[in-house]
Parts: sequence; C-alpha cells; structure tokens
Amino acid sequence: MTTLPFFPPDLFEQDREALLDIVYQHGTGPSQKFILGEQTAALEEALKADTGAQHVIACGSATGALELCVRALGIGPGDEVIVPAFCCQPVASSVINIGATPVFADVDPWTMVLDPEQVPALVTERTKALMPAHIFSIMAEMPKFKELGRQYGIPVIEDAAVAEGAVLDGVPAGRWGDLGVFSFFQVKAFGTAGEGGMVLTDDDQLATTVRMLRNHGQDGKTRFTHHLIGQNSRFDEILASFQLHRLPTFADRLERRAKIADYYSERFAPLADRGVLAPPAGRNGRCYYVYSLLVNRREDLRAYLSERQIGTHVYYPVPLPSQPAFSPWAPEGQSWPNAQQVSARNLGIPIWPHLTDQNVEFIADSVCEFFE
Ligand SMILES: Cc1ncc(COP(=O)(O)O)c(C=O)c1O
Repeated sequence: MTTLPFFPPDLFEQDREALLDIVYQHGTGPSQKFILGEQTAALEEALKADTGAQHVIACGSATGALELCVRALGIGPGDEVIVPAFCCQPVASSVINIGATPVFADVDPWTMVLDPEQVPALVTERTKALMPAHIFSIMAEMPKFKELGRQYGIPVIEDAAVAEGAVLDGVPAGRWGDLGVFSFFQVKAFGTAGEGGMVLTDDDQLATTVRMLRNHGQDGKTRFTHHLIGQNSRFDEILASFQLHRLPTFADRLERRAKIADYYSERFAPLADRGVLAPPAGRNGRCYYVYSLLVNRREDLRAYLSERQIGTHVYYPVPLPSQPAFSPWAPEGQSWPNAQQVSARNLGIPIWPHLTDQNVEFIADSVCEFFE
C-alpha cells in the first residue's frame, strides 16, 4: 500500500539540484554575504510585484514578523490586541513578548477563523490592534475586520502566514491589513528549506520601522547605531535565492492544491448529514495550505486512515486560552465554545501538490468508506 504522509518528505525533490547548486554558488561566491544581501532584496522586489504591496520586508519567520508588526505599531504594556482563541500560538506570544495583553476572541464554528461578530464586545480604550489570522484553507473575513478597524480607529495586523497566494474579492492575502505577514516555514504553500517570513505594508513609516526592527534597530546605513530596540529577524541569502527559484512554479502548486480541495469538497458534501463538515467550497478567499475536516469521531477516523497508511494531523488540540502558557491571559469566567469545539473536531488530511489523482481518490474513498 502506498504511504501518504500528512507532511511529505519529498517536498523539495524537484528543486533539490537547484538547491544544491544555490548552496554551492553562495558558499564559494566572492561576496560571502549570507544574510540581507542582493538575493533578499530581489525576493522582496519579486513579492512586491506579485502582491502589489508598496513595501515587502523579509524577516526570520512569521512569528518574528508578527512581533515586528506589533512593535512597529508602538504597542506595549497596558495595550490590548484582539487575537483568535483558536490559532497558531504566535498570535498570542507576539503580543505578550512585548508586554501587551492578548484578548482572545472566539472563532467561527465552521471556518475556524476569528469571528468578527465577537470583536465589538471586546474592544476597550486599551485595544491597539486587531489580529485576524487565516486558518488552514480559509481567509478571515477581511472586509469586516477592515471595517471594524476603521470604526474603532485601530490598525489590523493580518496574519496571512498560511495564505500566501490566496485572493479575497480581488485583493491578495497579506494586503488587507495595515500590516500583513507571510510564513515560509517548509510545509506552508510557499514554504522553503528552512525558516523565513515577510511583512507587507503600504505605510512608508511602518515599513521603515519594521526594516530597522528586524536588524537590531539599525537603519541599514550606519552600522552599530541603534535607533530602536529591535531584534534579530534577518533573512537568509541562500533561502532568498531558493525562493526566487521556486516563485515561477508557485502558482502551479497552488492551483494543484485548489483542484485537490475542489475534488475533496465534492466528495465530502454528501457526508454532511453524517456530521462531517468540509471547508466551504470555492476559490474566493481560499488558500488550501491544509484541508481540515470537522468530524465527531476524530480518533476513530484517524485510526482508520492510519491503517490505510494515510497520514492526518490535528492542529491545535487545545485552544490558546486553555494552554498553560496563555491561561494567565484568559479571564476567569470567559469561554470560547467554538474554539473548544473545533479543537476537538478538526482533522487535516493530505493536500500536498504532488499527490497524484489516484492518491487523492484513495484518500477521499477512504474517508467516505469510514462514514458508510
Ligand atoms: C496562522 C499562523 N501564524 C503564524 C505562524 C508562524 O509561522 P512561522 O513558523 O514562520 O513562524 C504559523 C505557522 O504555522 C501559522 O499557522
């Protein structure tokens, strides 16, 4: 039986020769510049062209990028940022690490993204930003968050770590917020052979600040003059070259992911009356980094698929406010029932772009057979 892992070990196989060549070229090249050099600048330019953003700033990871955004907005102790209760942990740690307070808001029970309806009740005079995040295959309802930001006069940090290449109402992911963030962690849609992230913004001042913050608060002109207290969130030249090499084929990989998702959604629609909720179908505001079902008998389905050598993944089995690290920021008496529920029910199935049609059919057949 073919083994179909959730995270394939051969993600970069097609580009392996190119990667080795890039490592060799950089390793033996005359400049010996391994961070924030010409290749990083070229990648920033390429993603500016790709997204239409005025400024694109490469940094060490999306986790680092979120923290740079929070810092660049001048947020600090006493300030609050509204973040999803069900998400990857950096939405909370990026706020706490600079001494501010994450305010957890519940998510939509189907799409699993931050529910904009939850926001108004949580806004106070201390609220200094909203941080919606796109999750798995669904972009957050950015028009509503943009409107909320306008209404309350607070900026929006758009965590598009998983959503590079997605488009909602004609606007690319990462371009809806005052600041947007991408991740290049290897399994992400535009993942790389290591770590990396990007900040996107149209705001000149924020861009200048993020650029300084990513490199110890220096302005790139005078070395060892620190205008701001920054961090080390610099970008790797080898990975910049590798991403430039992979950029022309990115759209094809995204399209393949979308096609697999279309097929899954068609196959799983009839399972709705058996308690299986597939992500909303369609292409608008969809990213297909991960395809996650919501199911009641998750562990049984997992075991069934595992017997067939199909890997699955449970993301965030514990919502953020219930995590030991974040519980001090979870006000007593408050609950996040949807976050709790999707933590207990979500199950990701493979959606990597080099799955064959046969593989995809086998995965869909196996899920359907389980519920028959
Ligand atoms: C929604 C979200 N935000 C942020 C991150 C952090 O990305 P990175 O691994 O590049 O730090 C992730 C990573 O999984 C994520 O899923």
